[in-house]
Amino acid sequence: MHAVQFKSFGSPTEVAECVELADPGPLAADQALLAVEATPINPSDVLTLTGQYGTLPRLPATPGNEGVGRVLAVGSDVKNVRVGDVVLLPVGTGTWREKIAAPAARLIPLPTSADKLQLAMLAINPPTAYLLLRDVVELKPGDWVVQNAANSGVGSYLIALAKLRGIRTVNVVRRESLVEPLRAAGADAVVVDGDDLAKRVAQATAKAPIRLAIDAIGGESTMRLAQCVAPGGTIANYGALSGQACRVAPQDLIFRQVTLRGFWLTKWFTSATPADQQAVFGELVKLMVDGTLRTRIEATYPFAKIKEALAHAMRPGRDGKILLVAAT
Ligand SMILES: NC(=O)c1ccc[n+]([C@@H]2O[C@H](COP(=O)([O-])OP(=O)(O)OC[C@H]3O[C@@H](n4cnc5c(N)ncnc54)[C@H](OP(=O)(O)O)[C@@H]3O)[C@@H](O)[C@H]2O)c1
Repeated sequence: MHAVQFKSFGSPTEVAECVELADPGPLAADQALLAVEATPINPSDVLTLTGQYGTLPRLPATPGNEGVGRVLAVGSDVKNVRVGDVVLLPVGTGTWREKIAAPAARLIPLPTSADKLQLAMLAINPPTAYLLLRDVVELKPGDWVVQNAANSGVGSYLIALAKLRGIRTVNVVRRESLVEPLRAAGADAVVVDGDDLAKRVAQATAKAPIRLAIDAIGGESTMRLAQCVAPGGTIANYGALSGQACRVAPQDLIFRQVTLRGFWLTKWFTSATPADQQAVFGELVKLMVDGTLRTRIEATYPFAKIKEALAHAMRPGRDGKILLVAAT
């Protein structure tokens, strides 16, 4: 089978190779063999390849943390999935390969009628958006939140999930051409990042107090979000897209009592109860199947074209996600 592998950390397009590996060996009684149908390239995969992510695999390794697959075979004890079922791949299992053997208990069966490319992106960005809105500060209908990188996958899910809860979003982007598309997708306000961001956000919200800012970028962008929140407000940093340390002015931290904290989905996976995880995923699957949660896709590539796919995924100004898909 084709699989992507890397043997050292470095420039993603240099270290990632498509190689030929043996298919997974005989199945254990509790395992299922899956054909990977689609698996996205996320910013965290790029950081893993460069050696900058929060957890790193032992090398050589296959990158990829989520996706959708079809069950090809099951072990003798498996009852929860059947051959032909479409399932979410277990998170963090090196999904950029054509076949995976996985413990069947970790598989979430999905409706076969749903859009597989969208489903392939269900396990990481949608729960991130959901939990950023649920777990950082208590929000009620009518409240405003501000987020940057609002045209990202997480950003687009956050707009939809906030709308469902009656929470209003101010969305910060870095080019004017995104204003109309994001408004059409349900954003209450869209502003282009820049020095007077706080002033323009205040205009867009009629000076409503904003208790939560959601930061995927770091650096000066964090500082500008800190100026947008009300005294006592919170910035949840969940991404490092600028590669810069988060900056917040002492005036905001001290005199306006703004708090900066981090959010990491991996931590939630290890600390949330199975019941909470099932409830969150149950809700997200429904919302993705009914089309409420969708994000734009710019291109798909076969595993063999991994270098082109990575170069594309790392390009600024994309109009959507890049996914690796099974060759047809
Ligand atoms: N903490 C967690 O648990 C967690 C979970 C999921 C995702 N994340 C993080 O969430 C962020 C978004 O992920 P995603 O998959 O939703 O992204 P994505 O769909 O691949 O989109 C990438 C986004 O990043 C923006 N961007 C890239 N470089 C930038 C820079 N230097 N300055 C400002 N904006 C920049 C792009 O803007 P343009 O369109 O203008 O290029 C685009 O909006 C990433 O940092 C990812 O690591 C964190």
